[in-house]
Amino acid sequence: MPSMAPGGAKNSNQSNNQLNGKVSNDDRRAEFFARKHRIVQQRKSLPIASVEKRLVEEVKSNNILIIVGETGSGKTTQLPQFLFNAGLCHDGKVIGITQPRRVAAVSVAKRVAEECGVQLGQRVGYSIRFDDTISRSTRIKYMTDGLLLREALLDPYLSRYSVIIVDEAHERTVHTDVLLGLLKTVQKVRSGPINECSKIDRMKANNGLLMEKENDAQRASILKQYRGIKLSPLKLIIMSASLDARVFSEYFGGARAVHVQGRQFPVDILYTHHPETDYLDATLITLFQIHLEEGPGDILVFLTGQEEIESVERLVQEKLRQLPEDNQKVKVLSIFSSLPSEKQMQVFMPAPTGFRKVILATNIAETSVTIPGIKYVIDPGFVKARTYCAHTGMESLIIVPTSKAQALQRSGRAGREVPGKCFRLYPESEFEKLSDSTIPEIRRCNLSNVILQLKALGVDDIIGFDFMEKPSSEAVLKSLELLVLLGALTEEYKLSDPVGHQMARLPLEPIYSKALILASQFNCLEEMLITVAMLSVESVFYNPREKLEEARTAAKCFSSLEGDHPTLIAVYRAFDEFLEKSNLGNSREKTEKNLRKWQIRGNIEQMGLHIVSCGDDMLQFRRCLAAAFFLNAALKQPDGTYRVLSSGQVVQIHPSSVFFRTKPDCIIFDEFVRTTHNYVRNLSSLLSTIPCKSRSRSRIHGLNLKDDRLLFVWRGLVELHSCTGLRWTAILIHPLGYCC
Ligand code: CDP
Ligand code: MG
Repeated sequence: MPSMAPGGAKNSNQSNNQLNGKVSNDDRRAEFFARKHRIVQQRKSLPIASVEKRLVEEVKSNNILIIVGETGSGKTTQLPQFLFNAGLCHDGKVIGITQPRRVAAVSVAKRVAEECGVQLGQRVGYSIRFDDTISRSTRIKYMTDGLLLREALLDPYLSRYSVIIVDEAHERTVHTDVLLGLLKTVQKVRSGPINECSKIDRMKANNGLLMEKENDAQRASILKQYRGIKLSPLKLIIMSASLDARVFSEYFGGARAVHVQGRQFPVDILYTHHPETDYLDATLITLFQIHLEEGPGDILVFLTGQEEIESVERLVQEKLRQLPEDNQKVKVLSIFSSLPSEKQMQVFMPAPTGFRKVILATNIAETSVTIPGIKYVIDPGFVKARTYCAHTGMESLIIVPTSKAQALQRSGRAGREVPGKCFRLYPESEFEKLSDSTIPEIRRCNLSNVILQLKALGVDDIIGFDFMEKPSSEAVLKSLELLVLLGALTEEYKLSDPVGHQMARLPLEPIYSKALILASQFNCLEEMLITVAMLSVESVFYNPREKLEEARTAAKCFSSLEGDHPTLIAVYRAFDEFLEKSNLGNSREKTEKNLRKWQIRGNIEQMGLHIVSCGDDMLQFRRCLAAAFFLNAALKQPDGTYRVLSSGQVVQIHPSSVFFRTKPDCIIFDEFVRTTHNYVRNLSSLLSTIPCKSRSRSRIHGLNLKDDRLLFVWRGLVELHSCTGLRWTAILIHPLGYCC
């Protein structure tokens, strides 16, 4: 059914013109109107378009509605527009749509702004951590689920929203799960009158965040605003691609669920005869088989992450160069969450005429984004998933087989516009062995961030919180313990004052927040800001294979003997200086790392912390690192591996570290990565470790982490006491090799 295919030949010519750089104003105008017309046609042809009236009625008559529909049916882009047109954001209220992924929030907002013919940030906008295009006139707001959770800290009843749509709920990210629990309460409260001011009082007192900023007059006015008034009811819509509406419906007390018919063409599923030993190699072979033997149509390949995507891309390019020129017309594009958004957007553009598009994607392309033109899908059957070991407290990303639900989603991507083919790179018998659905993230991640936020929202009883699926109590306890160790919670598991409140306010992992707060005491907040900003973006080192030597030499100029953290600071400073020298100072804020730094800086300044630099005195900085990352301290073993002090886990230094060869005696690390080995990444050395003889137990006021280990930290000293037999030994780690 070619008429349904978005884009088409016209579109391709258009990009060729652009490539030739011969676009006149008239052409541009014609192009603009042609595109507008195409969008109108495309919208009309979406399956959801025929049920607009019915959906609006359903939303009007149900306060909670579950909408299930195939990916590509138009839920994410169209429903908010239907509701806007039906007047569901009256009195200046906003329709909020949450997405588990930043890329989806951004790309969909851009698309919807275009569909509405408005500038992004006007009627339609998005808001994600560190990036925001919202204005007072925004009525349709796309955002990440994590961001809405943070908003609840400042506006417990989410009073700015008339409708909240939780999209891609089937992904069951930890933020979605927590958000659903929270929205359930908010919804109940907003459906009834709030006559008791005490409710607000309690919530705000627990919240604490607002209290700091508000003076009495502001506070009184807020309370007056709520007292005795009936907040308008909140419409809550849960949207999901998979078929499992039942779990959501049950969770919301038998809420109504409606199905939107999808448009799905048949997809041939092909399996391999035998299991593949090297799925990347199998991917390449299949890709070229399709390219050389099958008819036209774009190819979508599911890989597990950036590194894999980059290496497959290189191999594809190499192989292409060996083909006859006629067969080289392939445009390889990739999409993964840490790719800059302009690059991500390229996958949505049609390939130049005569070219085949090959898209290398992570599971981001399973449901979050819809890429037009796909006819072939290659599914090696793996995904990178977060895992958490409550015993060691270590979180890592590992490559695991997909679930059946994921495999079905992936193959479905091939049949959106025409009948397609999906190549599963494993035998059919293996498919039967896959688990039906993916385990919700809340059962396999470190919960400390979420717990901190729930505490800040006034939810004291974490185990008793109405989760859709309860996290294991072991994981909750471990995360509570971590928060106590970081000083965010008191021994009674209450949010501590001021550290806990301050930490909850920063949109960062608790350990980073703690590092920043400590840095203000160690007079190195400037350096820690840079470090945290650099650590919260993907690696800043670019190592293209063809220029590997050059890249290595360039990286060496910055490497610091003191570790990867000081190296990151050196890289940042050199870059900053370069911008300054080349008179690009104004564009400085535009670079990603800078942006992060400035945004975190904003939060820090609001908290009244002083941003000072320790200059060349990196000792202060390293002390501070030790004080914040003490749970990630590891000691070298005789065989060159390291033992993490708090958990006993054995790890190795990642090859990307400046310490890969020189291996200091004691390190603190930022990240644990599990691939073929248990690696730790982003390290700094603590100069020396000196085992001390016995120490009076009565003087130890640390925390019992394990039966035989005690650890405590003060002023940048990490002290580990271990008990062998009846003898206690203490190891003191300090940047100066200090020992008592
Ligand atoms: O949410 P659902 O998967 O049901 O569909 P959607 O995201 O609303 O997408 C509906 C259609 O809009 C897609 O099939 C694409 O044709 C188009 N779209 C687009 O062209 N660019 C985007 N960034 C998002 C959607
Ligand atoms: Mg969608």
